Amino acid sequence: MNWDQLYAKRTHRMRRSAIRELLKVTRRPEVISFAGGLPAAELFPIPQVKAAVDAVLQRLGGKCLQYGETEGVPELREWVASHFSRNGVQITADNVLITTGAQQGLDLVGRVFLDESDRAVVENPTYLALLSAWRPYVGEFLAVPSDEHGMQVDALPKLLEKRPKLIYITPNFQNPQGTTLTRERRETLVGLLQEHGVALLEDNPYGELRYDGEALPHLLEIEAGKSGGIPNHVMYSGTFSKVLMPGLRVGWVIAAPEVIDKLGMAKQAADLHTSTICQYAALELLRRGFLEEFVPVLCKSYGERRDLMLSALEKHFGGKAKWNRPDGGMFLLVSFPAEYDTMKMLPRALEQNVAYVPGEEFHMNGEGKNTLRLNFSNARPEQIEEGIERLAAVL
Ligand SMILES: Cc1ncc(COP(=O)(O)O)c(C=O)c1O
Repeated sequence: MNWDQLYAKRTHRMRRSAIRELLKVTRRPEVISFAGGLPAAELFPIPQVKAAVDAVLQRLGGKCLQYGETEGVPELREWVASHFSRNGVQITADNVLITTGAQQGLDLVGRVFLDESDRAVVENPTYLALLSAWRPYVGEFLAVPSDEHGMQVDALPKLLEKRPKLIYITPNFQNPQGTTLTRERRETLVGLLQEHGVALLEDNPYGELRYDGEALPHLLEIEAGKSGGIPNHVMYSGTFSKVLMPGLRVGWVIAAPEVIDKLGMAKQAADLHTSTICQYAALELLRRGFLEEFVPVLCKSYGERRDLMLSALEKHFGGKAKWNRPDGGMFLLVSFPAEYDTMKMLPRALEQNVAYVPGEEFHMNGEGKNTLRLNFSNARPEQIEEGIERLAAVL
């Protein structure tokens, strides 16, 4: 069978990441990996998860192992609705779809809204797997430049003349840059949505992982404040992956009920529903107050790792490269002089048993060849200085 002839047009638009094969070596224990966006596995709360799963099995029996509703376990949808009904937002469970990780929400939004004739605006650089998710659906990505304060919102009006359907943004501790959109830019951005009638997907997997400074309002909250509590242009994507554990695969989308209805239809076709036992386990952890207990533990640990990485960078790269100081999240982006090519350097770094992701992967228009993304949440503190030293030797 010549399978290649059979693939759909959209399948030909899917791309395999050039570095995925290379980065497989990061599984070797001798490799210090700053590559993946992984939480610290040694902090996973195994006894608490076990207790939560035992409790739901005991209490609910077969119900938590049965098929469930596509939109999600009603009590979990209620939890999300009440958790986000603050700072001007007034939503109900009808505004919430539980998804299989945030990634599924991103994919469903692309599937429900984007045609081949459409354009979507993304930050440059942006989250790689959003590009992978939307590329099969969308005609064209329009890239907005970003700086140390996130998306350069002033550059948007010109792009909006091309009438894009959607804007995608990660306002807090962006992946890959670690940047945070300022309050002023948030206000301007929401104003532009309303003025131009364009929809936006606010992706916020890292917002709770803040190590410095004060939390800024969600775009969802800013818009709700202007429109009587109900989100109208903003859709919001959340997840327990970074604040509990990614293996749960439980996330959510908040949007207008009519959008939730369409996303729900698309989800039903994709996977019927998100794992029932995982949703109940997450709910049990929330009811036990575990999120309030665990997030500060993560913030303390990741904040320390960020500081260790920043001082190791200063020691080994001071004056030779530039990087930002993220207020939270898991990543920072290092920029080298223009003649550097971090993709070409990766095999040499891997030979030295240290891994990163070349920044080119996240950029549009062939930019970012001289940059690399470093993750500081996964490597153990004692490995961070050693890893940066190895990197310095290569670079
Ligand atoms: C910006 C961004 N959005 C979404 C996701 C996906 O999260 P989840 O594991 O909940 O699917 C990630 C994961 O790394 C991410 O960095």
